[in-house]
Amino acid sequence: MVNTPSTRTRDGAGTRTRDGAGTDWWREAVIYQIYPRSFADSDGDGIGDLPGVVARLDDLVALGVDAIWLSPFYPSPQADAGYDVADYRDVDPIFGRLADADRLIAEAHDRGLRVIVDLVPNHTSSAHPWFVEALGAEPGSSARDRYVFRDGRGPDGDQPPNSWRSVFGGPAWTRVDGPDGTPGQWYLHLFDAGQPDLNWDSAQVRDEFVAILRFWLDRGVDGFRVDVAHGLVKQADLADWHYPEETTSGDHVDQPRPPMWDQDGVHEIYRQWRSVLDEYPGQQILVAEAWVQPAERLAAYVRPDEMHQAFNFEYLEAAWTSEAQRTVIERSLAATEAVGAPTTWVLSNHDVLRHATRLALPIGAARPRGIGANDPQPDTALGLRRARAATLLMLALPGSAYLYQGEELGLPEHTTLPDEVRQDPTWRRTDHTERGRDGCRVPIPWEADSPSYGFGPTDASWLPQPPVWAEYALDRQRDVPGSTYELYRTALRLRRKLGLGAGRLRWLESPEDVLAFCVDEVTVVTNFGAEPVSLPPGTEPLIASGPLNGSGRVPTDVTVWARQRVR
Ligand code: NOJ
Repeated sequence: MVNTPSTRTRDGAGTRTRDGAGTDWWREAVIYQIYPRSFADSDGDGIGDLPGVVARLDDLVALGVDAIWLSPFYPSPQADAGYDVADYRDVDPIFGRLADADRLIAEAHDRGLRVIVDLVPNHTSSAHPWFVEALGAEPGSSARDRYVFRDGRGPDGDQPPNSWRSVFGGPAWTRVDGPDGTPGQWYLHLFDAGQPDLNWDSAQVRDEFVAILRFWLDRGVDGFRVDVAHGLVKQADLADWHYPEETTSGDHVDQPRPPMWDQDGVHEIYRQWRSVLDEYPGQQILVAEAWVQPAERLAAYVRPDEMHQAFNFEYLEAAWTSEAQRTVIERSLAATEAVGAPTTWVLSNHDVLRHATRLALPIGAARPRGIGANDPQPDTALGLRRARAATLLMLALPGSAYLYQGEELGLPEHTTLPDEVRQDPTWRRTDHTERGRDGCRVPIPWEADSPSYGFGPTDASWLPQPPVWAEYALDRQRDVPGSTYELYRTALRLRRKLGLGAGRLRWLESPEDVLAFCVDEVTVVTNFGAEPVSLPPGTEPLIASGPLNGSGRVPTDVTVWARQRVR
C-alpha cells in the first residue's frame, strides 16, 4: 500500500493535493534538508536515525516547511557518510530498518509533508556486491564493465590511466590486484576510493537505477535528490585534464568543459527517469545536484522532459554585495524561465560552510573547505546578522527554497573541531591540508539543558557539540521574539500566506548598495551599505531580519519585507 501525503490544507497553503489536480507543489516549495546522522538520535548511540526523524516531524510542521529531503540512510560502510551506498533498497542498521523508512514516509504524509530521498547514481560503495564481483572478475568481463576499469599507463601499467584527481584530493584512480594476486587494472573514483564510479554506458547500470527509482516510488516517496547529477557520463576518451584539482567541480566558466563533468550524454538518462516518474500518479520530482555553470547550462537539466529542479549553487556562492546578489538573481530567474522550470535558492547544505559563518568571511573571498581551530575565527555576530538578512532575502524570491537543518536556529559552523575527530575523507585525502565538511555536520541542538542538547537521550554525539550549542537550542528560541527560529517561522508563514514563491519579481530603483524589489504586493529591501536607508514611501515593515534604527530606517546587513501602509 503506497503512502500518500494528506490532502489537508495547511494555513493558507493552498490545496496541496498529490493527484495532480492541485498546484505543482514543488514550484514554490520550501524543502528542509535532514542530514539523518545529525538530526535526532532515538537510541542514544550518538548517531541520528529514522525513528529520531519521525519523533521530530511535528517540529518541522511547526516550522512551516513543505517537504523534507533526507541525505542517504542506506546500508553503507560510511566512507563518505553514506554517499557510498552498498544496497540501494534498504536502511543501514545505524539509521533503523526499512520499516522505519516506511513509517517515516507515512507519518510525514499524515502531516502534509512530502518526502524526498537521496539517489546516488554516480558511484556505489566499494562494498556493493557489484564491485566485489568486479574485483574477482577478469578484465573485460561484464562485471567489470559496470564500473570504469582501465589498464594503467607505462610499461608496467603502474601509472594511473589518466591525470584526473579526486574531488576529495589525491588521484581519481586506484589500482587493484588481479585474480592471480598480481597488480592489475585501475578503477575510477571521482570521490573516495570507497566510491567507485559506475559506467553509465552499461545497460545493466541503467536498468538497475530505473528499478531503484521504482522501488522507492512504490514505497511512496515524493522525489529524489540526484547526487552528482552532472558526473554520470564521462567523455569517451577519458582525456587528461590539466587544470587544478579544484576546478573539477565544474564551476569555473573560464575554462573548457572538464571531461568528467556536465557531458551532454547525462540528459538522456534524466529523460528516461522522468518518463518513469510520469507513470506514477501525483507529482514526484527529480532534483539535480549539479555543480554546473553558467546558469543556462544548468537550466538544461530542468527542461520540461528532464528534472524538475536543480540546486542553484551559483546563488549559494554569490558574494554578499548588492551587485553580485542582483546579478545572480536576475540570471537565475531568466535561465529557468527560459525552460519553464522554477528557480531554486539555497544558502547552506552538508557540503559547505554554514552560511552563518560563511557570510562573516571577507566579502568575495573564496569559500574555504572547512575551518580549523588554528585558522582565523570568523565574527559570529556579523555572520549571523548577514545570514538572517540573506535568508529573509532568499525566502522572498519566487521559486523553491532549500533549508539545511539547524540554519533555522542560526547555527554557525563548528570551526574549532579537534582534528582527530574529523571524518570527512577530504581531510585524509588532502594530507590534512583541507579540513573538509565536518564542521557543518555536527548534531543539532534541540534542548539547552538535556544531554547532547536534546539530540539524543545520552551525551553521545558522533561529532562533539560545542558548549555554545546551548544558546542556539530550539527551546531557547521558541516563542522568543527576535530569535532566529521565530524569524524563520514567521517568514515561512508569510511567504506561504502571501504566495511569494509563486510571485513575480520586479526590481525597484535603489541606491547602489541597496537591493530593492517587489514580489507581487511585498516590497523587499536589503541594505548592504554602511548608511541606514529608508523604506519606499508609503510602505511599512512586515518583518525584518534585525531591528530597524530609531527613525524606522533599514541598517546595514538587514532585510525588510514591507507592504503598502494600511490607512
Ligand atoms: C555530493 C554530496 O552532497 C556529498 O556529500 C558527497 O560527498 C558527494 N556528492 C559524493 O557522493
